[in-house]
Amino acid sequence: MNENGNQKYLALFGRQPSISLAEIQAVLGKNQVEDLGSASILESLPNMSYLGGTTKLAQIIKITPNPPLDDSPELITQIIDAHLKQAQRRKINLGLSIYSTSVSASKIKHTLANVKQQYKTKDISIRTIPSNQPTLNAAKVIFNKLTSDKGLEIVMLAHEDKWIVAKTVAVQDVNAYSRRDHNKPVRDSKNGMLPPKLAQIMLNLAQVSADSHVLDPFCGTGTVLQEALLMGVGGVFGSDLSLDMVEASKKNLSWLDSASRITGKWQVAQTDATTGNWQHNIDKVVAETSLGPALNSLPSTTELNTIIEQTNKLHLMFLKNLHKQITSKSVACLAFPAWIKANKSYINLPVIDQLHNLGYNFIDFRSDSHKPGLYYHRPNAVVARRLIVLTKLDKR
Ligand SMILES: C[S@@+](CC[C@H](N)C(=O)[O-])C[C@H]1O[C@@H](n2cnc3c(N)ncnc32)[C@H](O)[C@@H]1O
Repeated sequence: MNENGNQKYLALFGRQPSISLAEIQAVLGKNQVEDLGSASILESLPNMSYLGGTTKLAQIIKITPNPPLDDSPELITQIIDAHLKQAQRRKINLGLSIYSTSVSASKIKHTLANVKQQYKTKDISIRTIPSNQPTLNAAKVIFNKLTSDKGLEIVMLAHEDKWIVAKTVAVQDVNAYSRRDHNKPVRDSKNGMLPPKLAQIMLNLAQVSADSHVLDPFCGTGTVLQEALLMGVGGVFGSDLSLDMVEASKKNLSWLDSASRITGKWQVAQTDATTGNWQHNIDKVVAETSLGPALNSLPSTTELNTIIEQTNKLHLMFLKNLHKQITSKSVACLAFPAWIKANKSYINLPVIDQLHNLGYNFIDFRSDSHKPGLYYHRPNAVVARRLIVLTKLDKR
């Protein structure tokens, strides 16, 4: 609770915490979010289904300087008692996740065994959820119904000199993501598909709402359009240079129409993003642009320079074309390619340094706990996606 007696929440972040933080700040407002590095404290509870970068949301019960795991974990029993009372049950599943380098999975196992024994003497059945890790993943929380009356997950996170103790209220629906990613009729492994979670993050960074019109000028198989419709956006428009990709998006969105309850309108057409005219009210632009060739390893400097030069030219032309068609109220969130060097630094497109001259405001998401720049990539990837949020510069 905060000083006004309001409930606070803990958001636990995924693999790329700087992006998760930027997303949740965009959704709730910066002043509603306290940055803890790999997690944050929230003043209100966002809708988990629409967040791509947060893996768990938990209701904060106590912030304490004392490590809450010892041989008589009173706080744990208090939380269990409250849950049993509220759910009016004598049998529950129990999970315990500790986000701290100082606590091992075996210590957690030992604590859970003690708790189980303690309740057994009161004729209450606690089924503890085993894990080889100190934290339970979303799939385990869902499978064991730990966010329902039937179960409970207690979360403890160590931050600086304090412990945040909380009760999980929502986790990322990993099954729903994989269903909509794998069941759609057309997938495109050649160009690489945008993970639905990243599409959600980008839509949130562009601050889409129900009355937004979202354009994806590099729509490919339509992941951004799909996620925007699922988030309840009123109208989406996709375009792509490739007729095959236009057909792919149409097939996927028709499937979505039949498989889910979406109310927004959608349209897809063939357009070259460097020269075309979208003839639509461009309110929000969300796109993973052309990332250049898929690479398994970093090519020679000469080859890489050629790739960068060609990709940069396309981006430059696209940004000039887009600029003519947006208003000062439009917001764009774009994923540009960035190449990862052996020393883990990034090579960005040169056009990023020209954004101001091209008439764009580059909204930088900086935090004290993360390096600058929002980059998304798999652990051994060669090409990362750099997320750029832009508005049109006001000419005074
Ligand atoms: C990385 S893919 C986008 C994938 C998409 N986000 C998805 O989920 O399937 C980039 C797309 O840009 C398209 N593209 C390349 N050059 C283009 C151009 N000049 N204008 C419009 N689309 C272009 C490609 O056909 C490809 O579908």
